[in-house]
Amino acid sequence: MPSLAIIGAQWGDEGKGKLTDYLDENADLIVRFQGGNNAGHTIIVDGKVFKLHGLPSGVVRPGKLAVIGNGVVVNLEELETEINEVIANGGSIDGLRISDRAHLIMGYHKKLDGAEEKYRGKNNVGTTKKGIGPTYQDKIARIGLRAGDLLEEDLLKEKLSFILPYKKDLMAMMEAEECSCTTESLFDKMMGWKDLIGKNICDTSVLINDALDQGKNIVFEGAQGAMLDIDHGTYPYVTSSATCGGGICTGSGVAPNRIDKVVGIVKAYTTRVGEGPFVSELTGEQGAELQKKGGEFGVTTGRGRRCGWLDLVVCEHASRMCGFTSLGITKIDILNDVPELPVCVAYDIDGEEVKHFPASISKLQRARPVYQTFKGWKGWDDTSAMVKAGYDNLPGEMREYIEFIEKYLKVPADLISLGPDRDETIDRKKDWWN
Ligand code: IMP
Repeated sequence: MPSLAIIGAQWGDEGKGKLTDYLDENADLIVRFQGGNNAGHTIIVDGKVFKLHGLPSGVVRPGKLAVIGNGVVVNLEELETEINEVIANGGSIDGLRISDRAHLIMGYHKKLDGAEEKYRGKNNVGTTKKGIGPTYQDKIARIGLRAGDLLEEDLLKEKLSFILPYKKDLMAMMEAEECSCTTESLFDKMMGWKDLIGKNICDTSVLINDALDQGKNIVFEGAQGAMLDIDHGTYPYVTSSATCGGGICTGSGVAPNRIDKVVGIVKAYTTRVGEGPFVSELTGEQGAELQKKGGEFGVTTGRGRRCGWLDLVVCEHASRMCGFTSLGITKIDILNDVPELPVCVAYDIDGEEVKHFPASISKLQRARPVYQTFKGWKGWDDTSAMVKAGYDNLPGEMREYIEFIEKYLKVPADLISLGPDRDETIDRKKDWWN
């Protein structure tokens, strides 16, 4: 039962999309298990560019099944637009499967997301305003709509008849823009979605477990990153889903003993979008340079990402929460020609050296990074030459940097990504499916 999961080791945007795409090549099933269309990745297949948010990347790969697991929240209105784009680009959604247990993001969730952020004022989370938080709130509050409800019209009507008036009252109370739809008009709209994807909705846990029994190759594709996990991240500056290892099981309906390998994606420096503590952040010119050189602007929101040095206290926390068995180090080429590379190895909090990422936001705000500084490498701007040279011929300083990460996290760096293209990858493991 070869299965591997890919999870971001920082605050998302680690470059998972490219390495997921690389590992997807030999997968039969590609499963998303959490998050929603707050994520975003660009995939190029046969020269065609697909910008995906809600659709799993596997959907643009012919012959594979792309699964939206039960832990994902789905905005069908926006998914419809993405589906139309995929079809217009010559693709199809024949291989798409949506869990009947996946919760639906509705228009009112987006409006409530905006209203909640407004009420938080200066303490706002900096959400993507995609309605992610309010949808997960409804799931936990047991008043969510699920994809499977589309297939049970009487149940859907009954649910809408009390959920919609309740949401409208809530929006009025929060001074959110009034939701103009009626129960009937919303029901009709949802029946349009049923026509579009009704045949793709099924019990995806059975599908995945059957595939595992048949020895098929499965990739579990994480969205966001470990530090945005609702439990283990920098709460409340997090997303509302379980982005760490446990989320694979709850979000796709597989047991822990069915996951063979977990690849942690570590960007060679650190970024985060939105608010929240970031101990190794560079607020001056160096941060702006990293942002520019690394193209650190969001695919979903276009927002500039905050940038800083690599923080191994963050990555150790992620590795512990996710059980990384391999690391994929990305964007190390962005550090070419940086003379000195500080790596955060501990936090100084009120004079005490702390090695484990604390839960307390106020402690994190007081934390000062303790750096170990590495010598940078020069004259290696030609990444394809770097890839051709192979790992052993990479600049010694770069290998030192990589090997320090491996040693600190006690996990091998099996993938090194040196550029945005799939070919710009050094694979030190190669056989991922045994
Ligand atoms: P939400 O997921 O829209 O509720 O946003 C909560 C926090 O997660 C905000 O700080 C967002 O910027 C961050 N976030 C959500 N999705 C992503 C992502 O795909 N990459 C990076 N940050 C994200």
